[in-house]
Amino acid sequence: MAENNIPLHVGIIMDGNGRWAKKRLMPRSFGHKSGMNRMIGLAEHARARGIKFLTVYALSTENLSRPEEELDGLFGLFRKYFETNIKKLYADNARVKVIGDPSGLPSDIAGLLKKAEENSPADAEFTLLFAINYGSRAEILNAVNRAVEGGKKLTEEEFSSLLYTGGIPCPDMIIRTGGECRLSNFLMYQAAYSELYFTDVLFPDFTDAEFDKALESYASRERRFGKIK
Ligand code: FPP
Repeated sequence: MAENNIPLHVGIIMDGNGRWAKKRLMPRSFGHKSGMNRMIGLAEHARARGIKFLTVYALSTENLSRPEEELDGLFGLFRKYFETNIKKLYADNARVKVIGDPSGLPSDIAGLLKKAEENSPADAEFTLLFAINYGSRAEILNAVNRAVEGGKKLTEEEFSSLLYTGGIPCPDMIIRTGGECRLSNFLMYQAAYSELYFTDVLFPDFTDAEFDKALESYASRERRFGKIK
């Protein structure tokens, strides 16, 4: 695969954990745990492939209405990851950025996310972005309200800088596992020219080889950004 055909930024909608667990007669939380382990592996693999930014959709704002038991399981995973696993990420000179609204999360988790960003190496070569209590519409609305407060018309660049992803390039490719073909309120502004890749594979089964298939698909596409060749 030619190096210039590697996307700079990939977003992943990690869908299918629940169904993966159900197929094994296990609770949904078991699916999320397997999903977290797969996410950790994929982040290393993506980095080894030369990707510089990986955004994982870990919790949508809408997911917050899931049963308490499932949310407790997810929050437990976030605690474990941001207290323990994160150290390996720093050691590999990678940084964390969180996008979403921390105010809707348990306060200890909001604190861990803030700390994870603050403790990140300044000169990192790779950024793992976590979309947590994230919703694209809320993100856009928040940026619009800030723009209105500023009281002057903005350029696209100025507006982009007000999004949670300010300073991060738009995703070149968005992958969704688990068979659904929609964006579900994920990076809708930033996805204007993203290549979309949908697969039926459930997220815990989305191996490095499956990720490579997505990269091959990306490399074969012609991106014109609305222009003619
Ligand atoms: C969607 O699958 C997945 C989620 C709502 C959670 C994704 C979270 C992880 C993979 C863990 C991330 C961990 C950290 C530390 C950020 P689903 O439950 O909707 O699956 P289903 O469609 O089969 O029910």
